[in-house]
Amino acid sequence: MKKSNTPPKRVLVKTWGCQMNVYDSERMSDILHPLGFEDTDNAEDADLVVLNTCHIREKAAEKIYSELGRLRKIKAERQANGLQTKIAVVGCVAQAEGAEILKRAPVVDLVLGPQSYHKLPEMLSGLETGGSDSARTVLATDFDVDEKFKQLPKKRVATGPTAFLTVQEGCDKFCTFCVVPYTRGAEHSRTTDEITAEARALVTSGVREITLLGQNVNAWAAAAPTGVDETWGLAQLLGHLSKIDGLDRLRYTTSHPRDMDAQLIAAHGSLPKLMPYLHLPVQSGSNRILQAMNRQHTIEEYFSKITDIRRTRPDIALSGDFIVGFPGETDQDFEDTLHCIREVGYASAYSFKYSPRPGTPGAGLDDQVPEPIKSERLQRLQALVWEQQLAFNQAQIGKMLPVLFERVGRHAGQLGGRSAYLQSVYVQAAPELIGQIVDVQIISASNNALSGQLVSA
Ligand code: 5AD
Ligand code: SF4
Repeated sequence: MKKSNTPPKRVLVKTWGCQMNVYDSERMSDILHPLGFEDTDNAEDADLVVLNTCHIREKAAEKIYSELGRLRKIKAERQANGLQTKIAVVGCVAQAEGAEILKRAPVVDLVLGPQSYHKLPEMLSGLETGGSDSARTVLATDFDVDEKFKQLPKKRVATGPTAFLTVQEGCDKFCTFCVVPYTRGAEHSRTTDEITAEARALVTSGVREITLLGQNVNAWAAAAPTGVDETWGLAQLLGHLSKIDGLDRLRYTTSHPRDMDAQLIAAHGSLPKLMPYLHLPVQSGSNRILQAMNRQHTIEEYFSKITDIRRTRPDIALSGDFIVGFPGETDQDFEDTLHCIREVGYASAYSFKYSPRPGTPGAGLDDQVPEPIKSERLQRLQALVWEQQLAFNQAQIGKMLPVLFERVGRHAGQLGGRSAYLQSVYVQAAPELIGQIVDVQIISASNNALSGQLVSA
């Protein structure tokens, strides 16, 4: 039988939710690898399972409990064979429902909020020495983002030619539908020096494209590099990172329309490495609903930002997020949202039925919209977006687009990459081209991908 103090060696990290969760999961692996953990995709082999969770909509949160049901059986089977399995729930569900998880799912050993995952090694060794029950501690209330980034390993090893880099976390906007200000805490920007060092390390290990991440990334504001006595905004940070040799492409997400200032818009015209793609969620096209959502801007202000952005970078691909069925949304409010989509013309968009989240002001509002109406509106909205996506992709047919190859495709001899507009592009090409930016002649398009051929082929 395995000795109780033998450290676990295989870890399965499962990720739900946004790109920041993907980043957080990679950083957790960075912490665990030096402790002797190797990654596995298989729960049956895992000594440690980390579930990195999302609380943004009810559906996302529910998935965790069904996953825990599955893991309970695997843990029991492994135990029957003398093997221990530790289960950690981390991320936003952990933050919002920490105590409830421990009550509802005794199979869970650890619960860590998104600002506490750097404590994973400490918590694991607590489990080893204190026995499983005494170490079941909820760390969900810690919001010390500075401390987290200080504790994380400085060196990052890239897993491919593209990488996410968190520059800002948390949110002070308090949209009335959203849990993020409660699960991720207040806005916090990492320093220019810290971000630059991480970007350089990524480029040294082969990364050519970096996407800067933040819940409100364009609210990023921090001290300029050491020696420069200024406070910088995102436009200056992008300009600074553009100077890194070997880094070819920069992106950022997610932005709030209110923080889309003139400097940042101008950066889209002056920084060649900044890709012509912008995710700028509006959520609704109705001023009445925008106000009820506490979005802090009107639809006219949003349109005016879009006009400025398009004037600066005419070929920019725009993407957005939409919520249908926010409490009180009438047929006319919904028509206003469709009007917004027709006016802007999106290259892609994400859309969701409103999901009341416990503790947010929206959940307590009268006039919740019935489920069948939400479903019907979502379907109509998605059909319109689908048409626009297809039109945007088809407009690339016949063009030559630079593509950064990222991975092998599903079919033999195929590579997958991204255009500057973030479209997936598939080409028959040799795997040696992964990590290179190569001109591709686009020959066909669907609503979610392009295919093409190498010019020299
Ligand atoms: N219900 C539905 N969608 C939501 N989003 C955030 N909170 C909710 C909610 N309660 C959507 C928003 C946001 C995206 C990340 O998720 O559109 O921009
Ligand atoms: Fe949520 Fe609104 Fe903050 Fe975005 S801006 S994270 S939607 S509260």
